[in-house]
Amino acid sequence: MNKPFEKLFEPGQIGKMKIKNRIVMPPMVMNYAGLNGEVTDTMINYYQERARGGVGLIIVEATEVDYPNGLATAIPLAIHQDRYIAGLNRLVQAIHMYGAKAALQLHHGGRQAFIMEGQQPVAPSPIPCKVKQTLPRKLTIKEIEVLVEKFSQATLRAKTAGFDAIQIHGAHGYLITQFMSPYTNKRQDKYGGTFKKRMRFPLEIIQRTRELVGNDFPIIFRISADEFVKGGLTLEDSKHIAKTLEEAGINAIDVSAGIYESLFKIIEPMSYPEGWRVYLAEEIKKIVSIPVITVGQIRSPEFAESIIAKGKADFVALGRALIADPYWPQKARENKVNEIRHCLSCNIGCLGRIFSSLPAACTVNAQVGREKEFGIKLAEKKKKIMVVGGGPAGMEAARVASLRGHEVTLYEKNRQLGGQLIVAAASPGKDKISHLNKYYSGQLKKAGVKIILDRKVDERLVEEVKPDVLIIATGSEPFIPDIPGISGKNVLVYQDVLSGKVKVLGEKVVVAGGGMVGCDTALYLASQGKKVIIVEKQEALAMDMEITNRLDLILESLPKAGVQFLLNRTIAEISEKGIMTLDRQRKKFFIEADKVVIALGTKSVDALEKKARNIVSEVHIIGDSKKPRQIIDAIFEGAVVAQSLI
Ligand SMILES: Cc1cc2nc3c(=O)[nH]c(=O)nc-3n(C[C@H](O)[C@H](O)[C@H](O)COP(=O)(O)OP(=O)(O)OC[C@H]3O[C@@H](n4cnc5c(N)ncnc54)[C@H](O)[C@@H]3O)c2cc1C
Ligand SMILES: Cc1cc2nc3c(=O)[nH]c(=O)nc-3n(C[C@H](O)[C@H](O)[C@H](O)COP(=O)(O)O)c2cc1C
Repeated sequence: MNKPFEKLFEPGQIGKMKIKNRIVMPPMVMNYAGLNGEVTDTMINYYQERARGGVGLIIVEATEVDYPNGLATAIPLAIHQDRYIAGLNRLVQAIHMYGAKAALQLHHGGRQAFIMEGQQPVAPSPIPCKVKQTLPRKLTIKEIEVLVEKFSQATLRAKTAGFDAIQIHGAHGYLITQFMSPYTNKRQDKYGGTFKKRMRFPLEIIQRTRELVGNDFPIIFRISADEFVKGGLTLEDSKHIAKTLEEAGINAIDVSAGIYESLFKIIEPMSYPEGWRVYLAEEIKKIVSIPVITVGQIRSPEFAESIIAKGKADFVALGRALIADPYWPQKARENKVNEIRHCLSCNIGCLGRIFSSLPAACTVNAQVGREKEFGIKLAEKKKKIMVVGGGPAGMEAARVASLRGHEVTLYEKNRQLGGQLIVAAASPGKDKISHLNKYYSGQLKKAGVKIILDRKVDERLVEEVKPDVLIIATGSEPFIPDIPGISGKNVLVYQDVLSGKVKVLGEKVVVAGGGMVGCDTALYLASQGKKVIIVEKQEALAMDMEITNRLDLILESLPKAGVQFLLNRTIAEISEKGIMTLDRQRKKFFIEADKVVIALGTKSVDALEKKARNIVSEVHIIGDSKKPRQIIDAIFEGAVVAQSLI
């Protein structure tokens, strides 16, 4: 029988570095470094777990060559001094322990840098990034020469620390890209003006680096092959850049995309289809003869295999996919594809927390950043655990408790597991959420959880079962405010619409409420050909959403679907003909509608808690039943409770 994913698991090579397969973990800052940029145990455990999962090459996150200038985030890794070598060496050893190769990405943020009070970022030209909005200072020639030396000395340190390669961060709108791109480089000296002069800075870095580390040490260069901004680098420009870099002696090219002003091309939100930007790598590969790495929304082993098999790239990089499941490579190699816990591209735990200067986490993987603490340890005493509610909170609690050796029964009042995941996955662009439900269905079975569907738990059942521990994960339900006309026949609730329980007749629909759920409902209805207007009390839509997904929704999905909206409006009354709204000055405005769908918030389903506390000595309440929030909270609390059972 053929081995699964044969091409993906064929050994590869970058320069003299031999790699056991074609799977690369691209650099991802996780904010696990120490306050002065040191390697920490959290970081070591996080990377080691990915190496253990079978990835071929780990490119360790953006590491600062000019600390504390040009930082990628508030808490990045540093390599600007020799005293960082020892910590980095510990990290390399941890990665090597499982046969993965280790590269280190060298970074300077330029005008996109995270700056501290009193600092001014530097750049080739004094043009502020529209996202950062801070005016950078133009670098002098002397300062540029110093930076060339800093990048090159950092490579020497990385080599001394035992890294197998380095990656020069020439992508995503950071300093090196700023020099290469006509969008950000308006200099008229030897570092700007023509293509050749714009390439001088990276080429000098490569040349000086080679002098320090020799020709055999692999250098990977990351580019944004399309900056996706008017006046920025295009794929055609990047072909020219790739060829020039190859001639300068780099050993591989990692083809990414975007700058901060086109953020969702760097780290795509959920709606982007799998592998949408492989074409960039494919085009670059036609121009160069060194290995090419492709990245961006690559999620399934089948798709990854097809990229390598069709010769579109030599390596596939799996970023968030390996945060979500470090064992993706091992599961693919063992043909256990259904066991992979897929990334949702929700960006809530990773990017969202990084941007808020918090350590990264992951919606679907509560163990991220807590690799040791959340490893499965068998319980001292087997207990009888009753979990009520088959949403993400209850499913995670049941999975982990069962793996720890407890006797677990999960009760769900509906005929299927998933809770709100089912309606959350219903809208266009959100189907990735349905993977999570499939993952849990398989894993609960594998972990030996007894599942009882179509059974609503009340205090009598709890008394009958007499569990040692009761975990309440009953979630939340739509909140229906007291508005005149709300119980009319033309008024529906988002949950019934998204679950397909009711069919929405008529053409014109008003969605009352423009939070994430209201916007999802509007998109769903628009995809069925309805004319939809959202009415929202706040001054903007979807204020409860993560930023990349929110911008994608507001700038792309809603306009494309033709959804209209009215902001700063409250609902005064609903009638058969439509809905009466009030603006901030209490001026009335009537909107005609065939149907009104209510999406005005949710409330916890927590009635069981009080009653159960008189019956069972150990009761926990988790997820939305504690307080309506997001999947990340539900899964995290499920894991914490299950880990805490002694
Ligand atoms: C339209 C929509 C879109 C969303 N999109 C996102 C998103 O993109 N990202 C995100 O992070 N979050 C999203 N959410 C929120 C997310 O789905 C919830 O936060 C999450 O599902 C909460 O998980 P939970 O397990 O606590 O509760 P739930 O998912 O509500 O599950 C609770 C379960 O308990 C069952 N139950 C209740 N009472 C009983 C009982 N007495 N006996 C037995 N069973 C019972 C229910 O039937 C249900 O299956 C969305 C929500 C909606 C409605
Ligand atoms: C939390 C986070 C941090 C990132 N940090 C870096 C970084 O340090 N350097 C870099 O070049 N790209 C960084 N990226 C981009 C990733 O390397 C990758 O290109 C991107 O996530 C798209 O790939 P994916 O869909 O497989 O995640 C980061 C992405 C995420 C989600």
